[in-house]
Amino acid sequence: MTSRRAGFYDAAVRLHGRVRECGAIDVLLNGARSSVSGSLAIHGEHGIGKSALLAYAADRAADFHVLRASGTPSESGLPFAGLDQLLRPALSHLAALPEVQQAALAGALGLAAKRPPTDSSSGSRR
Ligand SMILES: Nc1ncnc2c1ncn2[C@@H]1O[C@H](COP(=O)(O)OP(=O)(O)OP(=O)(O)O)[C@@H](O)[C@H]1O
Ligand SMILES: [Mg+2]
Repeated sequence: MTSRRAGFYDAAVRLHGRVRECGAIDVLLNGARSSVSGSLAIHGEHGIGKSALLAYAADRAADFHVLRASGTPSESGLPFAGLDQLLRPALSHLAALPEVQQAALAGALGLAAKRPPTDSSSGSRR
């Protein structure tokens, strides 16, 4: 008996008729293993199997750190809410980014340290 978790999209479940899509996911992941970046948009009608393909991707990416984010209507007006959701678990690696990207990301996510106003920025005169 296996101890495999019986999740909704258990990876043991075979996806029927999705050889081409699964192949595209495998190509993307293999590229990433060779430091080749890429992206893949999965779209289609309700219930067509988009989440099942994402589950397949996550299962095939066991050697990666998988980050997830999902859209929420109530957060649609919040700037960078999706980015925050996606990257929050990885922010311990922020310092590894080049300084410019680090500052941009920290600014977008509201992590930039607040500095006390200087004479010139506060507009005070002597
Ligand atoms: N290729 C497939 N082979 C077997 N089962 C599948 C396949 N595609 C989807 N399913 C099953 O069909 C159901 C709906 O799939 P899924 O939830 O992935 O659709 P979806 O496109 O994400 O839907 P939604 O648009 O509502 O989010 C699930 O039970 C899933 O396991
Ligand atoms: Mg879905």
